[in-house]
Amino acid sequence: MRNNRFALFLMLVAFALAFMVPVHPLYSAETDGGDIVYEDTGKKPPVVFSHQKHKEAKNKCEDCHDKIFQKKKGAADAGGKMDMDALKEGKYCGACHDDEKAFTARKNCKKCHVAP
Ligand code: HEC
Ligand code: HEC
Ligand code: HEC
Repeated sequence: MRNNRFALFLMLVAFALAFMVPVHPLYSAETDGGDIVYEDTGKKPPVVFSHQKHKEAKNKCEDCHDKIFQKKKGAADAGGKMDMDALKEGKYCGACHDDEKAFTARKNCKKCHVAP
């Protein structure tokens, strides 16, 4: 009896997974980058970069990798080069966040610097 219930449970799980995967492709931080948190922000709250949201906004991997960003968390900020001056000059996030491709980094502080 117990075994039968377990088998039924497994069947239900398999059934659910079979239908879930095509509708909601599983999102993996390993392959798709996940969320990246930047904390070198002085008195401002940390910055959260979401791969998921950028994907939803129709950005392709090639739009960022590897001409703007390497596929390595923290690489851009090695040595503290990624600051607001760099962004305003059109580097890093500022390559798109320039009021043309996306909202500008000259304003909108709270869109990127989100309270934890
Ligand atoms: C497009 C996203 C984005 C917007 C909009 C944005 N920032 Fe930033 N900010 C960043 C990123 C990314 C860093 C780098 C963080 C790191 O390297 O750890 C940063 C770093 C900083 C820093 C620390 C480095 C420095 O330049 O002094 C301050 C202070 C800062 N931001 C203030 C602001 C203010 C004020 C605004 C609004 C006028 C703003 N930011 C808007 C993404 C953004
Ligand atoms: C809008 C820009 C952008 C797009 C589009 C983008 N990425 Fe990224 N990706 C980043 C940033 C920023 C980082 C962190 C780099 C850094 O901190 O120097 C990153 C890092 C990564 C990492 C390393 C994560 C880690 O924890 O070290 C992987 C893997 C990755 N991306 C995969 C992808 C894949 C796959 C796609 C397409 C589905 C993609 N990215 C699309 C901006 C982007
Ligand atoms: C290849 C272009 C590109 C780059 C590079 C890029 N973004 Fe974006 N980002 C976009 C687009 C397009 C959108 C959606 C349109 C908009 O919101 O103006 C967006 C939206 C966002 C949003 C709003 C997400 C939401 O809907 O809640 C945040 C926050 C953000 N980006 C932060 C960053 C940060 C931080 C970086 C650098 C680490 C970055 N972006 C680099 C293109 C880019």
